[in-house]
Amino acid sequence: MGIIETHDLRFVYGKGTPFEKVALDGVSISIEQGEFIGVIGHTGSGKSTLVQLLNGLLRPESGKVLLNGSDIWAKPKKIRNVRFEVGLVFQYPEYQLFEETVYKDIAFGPTNKGIKDKAELDTIIRTAAEFAGLKESLLEKSPFDLSGGEKRRAAIAGVISMQPKVLILDEPTAGLDPKGRDRILDRIRAYREKTGSTVLLVSHSMEDIARVADRVLVMNRGKVEMFDETKNIFKHGERLADIGLRVPQVTQVFLELRRLGADVRTDVYTMDFAKGVALDFLSGRTQSVIAQEKNPDGFAAEKAEEIPEGGEAQ
Ligand SMILES: Nc1ncnc2c1ncn2[C@@H]1O[C@H](COP(=O)(O)OP(=O)(O)OP(=O)(O)O)[C@@H](O)[C@H]1O
Ligand SMILES: [Mg+2]
Repeated sequence: MGIIETHDLRFVYGKGTPFEKVALDGVSISIEQGEFIGVIGHTGSGKSTLVQLLNGLLRPESGKVLLNGSDIWAKPKKIRNVRFEVGLVFQYPEYQLFEETVYKDIAFGPTNKGIKDKAELDTIIRTAAEFAGLKESLLEKSPFDLSGGEKRRAAIAGVISMQPKVLILDEPTAGLDPKGRDRILDRIRAYREKTGSTVLLVSHSMEDIARVADRVLVMNRGKVEMFDETKNIFKHGERLADIGLRVPQVTQVFLELRRLGADVRTDVYTMDFAKGVALDFLSGRTQSVIAQEKNPDGFAAEKAEEIPEGGEAQ
């Protein structure tokens, strides 16, 4: 059983109006405790709708969302509790920040979760702010006086202060410069390592997803197009391009090399791994790696020949 699952989920905006729009249909996924899931898809593919269904902000038209095996809508009056366990950082953090000060904003979740002790609350708020990389001096400011990047950090702090079991971030790096992007991603990774939480990261950036995700969910027109380990997803460069996505640049290089006839592997999506594969290729070892993958027995036989007469394989 996954920590969070969906069964045949369907959601329609503007039902019964001329603007009716089926945003999700037949979505069934299962996510294990502690996994880091990347969610990608063309604009309008249903990513934000899906994550809002996962934390009970939207109610499915049909199908189910299960949290630890229980239907989150079994008791609609208790839906607020789900939002503490499945924390969502909105795509547009402006919609999430509403208190007079950033401090009060971050306090909102833990206060509503029932933490009353002021000193305990203060520690939680400051720890969350530090974790999100938010300067202490900003805590007493109005959230509306913050820059775009600071607003995002404040929204992230407000969600992690609830210590959700599942942390969902909808495009948390959009509009940030590369440095700001890296910092936020590092913080999210650190949070997950420290707490063992499950993380879902919605992103348009293939590079971001490639760097952090264990598995990738690819959405297309309200349906699940692929849901697989990261290395398997980026092998499907052509299909991804067909649905308006592209593989990370480094993967593109290896797909192109293969197209030009070079015998390189194409499940390459991080720079570190790319370096190793490129070095292997240049030193001629790729041939044998591919031979091994295609024909493991043949490779074993080749190896056996290397054993000197009378010798034994150890
Ligand atoms: N409030 C709404 N009212 C009507 N239709 C909506 C609403 N929100 C989203 N939609 C439609 O539902 C579909 C899915 O939208 P959603 O926001 O989930 O996509 P997304 O994958 O998050 O896109 P993006 O990458 O642009 O954030 C789209 O066709 C969108 O136009
Ligand atoms: Mg969206």
